[in-house]
Amino acid sequence: MKKIGVLTSGGDSPGMNAAIRAVVRKSIYHGIEAYGVYQGYSGLMAGNISKFELGSVGDIIHRGGTMLRSARCKEFETKEGQQKGIEQLRKMGLDGLVVIGGNGSYLGAKALTEQGFPCIGVPATIDNDIPGTQFTIGFDTALNTVLDAIDRIRDTATSHERTFIVEVMGRDAGDIALWSGLAGGAETILVPEEDYDLDDIAERLKSGQRRGKKHSIIIVAEGVSSGPKFAEEIFAKTNIETRVSVLGHIQRGGNPTGFDRVLASRLGAYAVELLMEGKGGRAVGVVKDKLVNDDILTVLEQPHNFQSDMYKLSKELSI
Ligand code: F6P
Repeated sequence: MKKIGVLTSGGDSPGMNAAIRAVVRKSIYHGIEAYGVYQGYSGLMAGNISKFELGSVGDIIHRGGTMLRSARCKEFETKEGQQKGIEQLRKMGLDGLVVIGGNGSYLGAKALTEQGFPCIGVPATIDNDIPGTQFTIGFDTALNTVLDAIDRIRDTATSHERTFIVEVMGRDAGDIALWSGLAGGAETILVPEEDYDLDDIAERLKSGQRRGKKHSIIIVAEGVSSGPKFAEEIFAKTNIETRVSVLGHIQRGGNPTGFDRVLASRLGAYAVELLMEGKGGRAVGVVKDKLVNDDILTVLEQPHNFQSDMYKLSKELSI
């Protein structure tokens, strides 16, 4: 292994920079040349690749976003697009590629691996929905961003004795909603993994009001409903007027937490280690604080680890 490339793709997440830094520094430490691929798979197809030195990744460990930029790229879903990418990788003489991202990024890494170019997937998405790891890079930061927002919303909800609906990200996965709702003391949490019963939610709101509860917070994952739409449903059922906050992309920004920086550093360096051992086609992760790796060709077939016990607990604690 003489030359390793690194790219970030899909929705960015805080800690991607720390992972890039780890890949580059670990490679150079071991005498391997490191190359940054800009703008995800679309930059790869266009050959937007530069050789990195130690200083190329200085002063980024604490920054959100990704210095390599990111993209969602339809063309790379085709065989032709993937071939263009492989041609660029070969032209630069690269022997392995570290792909930092979520589901779509893993599919790209899988395709490249299937076509003979060894990739390692490093899980980075605020959604925490990648199988083969307990935590993805960026989830902890996003969780804390959402919690900060919930705490602020709770202040005004209390002052005005209002019910608030907070819409958080998570198209297919409810981890952001579940963890922030549990940690933020939300009365109701709606996640894509569990059905909800509007009558039950309405009854809980009303019985809360009967016993003098003045405010409520409902967390809705975007994959279940939009906040405004759910507010209409609540109003139709209860006549209770709510206020809605859609947190949107602020959840994806900000300086990564210590947890995410450490996770990113460990996973990025581990990806390089695997390539050095000649083990391409893997997806790295952390389970019970141990570094693990799975087959990138099959890892996405596993279900993501939604913790239904925590969901049950959140219901018990919000009576
Ligand atoms: O994949 C992360 C994520 O933030 C999802 O939670 C969200 O649904 C999606 O990206 C939004 O993507 P975009 O920024 O492309 O609209």
